Amino acid sequence: MMSEARIALVTGGSRGIGHATCVALAAQGATVAVHYRSQASAASATAAAIHAAGGQAVAFQADLSERSGADDLIAAVLARFRRIDILVNNAAEMTDASVEAMTDEQWEQTLTLNLSAVFRCCRACLPSMKTHQWGRIINVTSQAAFTGSANHAHYAASKAGLAGFSYSLAKEVGAFGITVNLVAPGRILTDMLQERMTGREEEWIKQTPLRRFGQPHEVGDVIAFLASDKASYITGATIHVNGGMLMT
Ligand SMILES: NC(=O)c1ccc[n+]([C@@H]2O[C@H](COP(=O)([O-])OP(=O)(O)OC[C@H]3O[C@@H](n4cnc5c(N)ncnc54)[C@H](OP(=O)(O)O)[C@@H]3O)[C@@H](O)[C@H]2O)c1
Repeated sequence: MMSEARIALVTGGSRGIGHATCVALAAQGATVAVHYRSQASAASATAAAIHAAGGQAVAFQADLSERSGADDLIAAVLARFRRIDILVNNAAEMTDASVEAMTDEQWEQTLTLNLSAVFRCCRACLPSMKTHQWGRIINVTSQAAFTGSANHAHYAASKAGLAGFSYSLAKEVGAFGITVNLVAPGRILTDMLQERMTGREEEWIKQTPLRRFGQPHEVGDVIAFLASDKASYITGATIHVNGGMLMT
């Protein structure tokens, strides 16, 4: 358990890895702000699962593709809880297009949600974390940032951008007791993976040394560890959770 109740915000907490992260953080004693964009019932289900286990959670809606989305979200969470100690930037989208076929709109929309919104969420949370001289920021990147992914150059670029952003921020805020780390999932069984899996399951499993896909909780538990007091001397790190698909 955490030494005191922390307030955690997980973007994209309605489904998949975000849902699992909310549950893992609540199990550690955090009060969780479960963010969602469109799936209100899924966010309510995440909050209900936490309540059923004796924890605290509230759902918050925001479209982080909109210019004011991040600032509005952080303001709403601060208005409710007065502080944010843990920020997990997990919400993202993946669309499919070769570089040649990609439109400006596709490129910009992906960069806006997957990278710019992360910058805006971090910027808006920093005053609260600095006031309390404690903070945990965990940015969810992807194996694609390190290996590339055909037909996902926009997605891979946004996720690689998170590395430069996170390492820079870690240097800026370390003196205030704030850590900034990245978690890089490989192939994890969520909607994002399942939408692209038809006909490729066997090939993908063969490429994975552990010979299976990851479960969302296997990423959520790592994020929860990085958010805990036990991870007090880890900052500017990337933790790979991919069944051995990337060995560097
Ligand atoms: N699954 C994988 O294999 C895998 C691999 C590598 C990296 N990742 C990364 O892990 C993270 C979670 O992925 P996942 O597979 O759990 O994703 P997912 O199941 O597709 O869920 C995406 C989440 O992002 C939210 N979201 C989407 N568009 C948004 C917008 N415009 N504004 C605000 N929120 C928005 C969704 O909210 P609603 O449900 O309300 O629409 C949902 O909660 C992402 O950063 C992803 O890039 C995943």
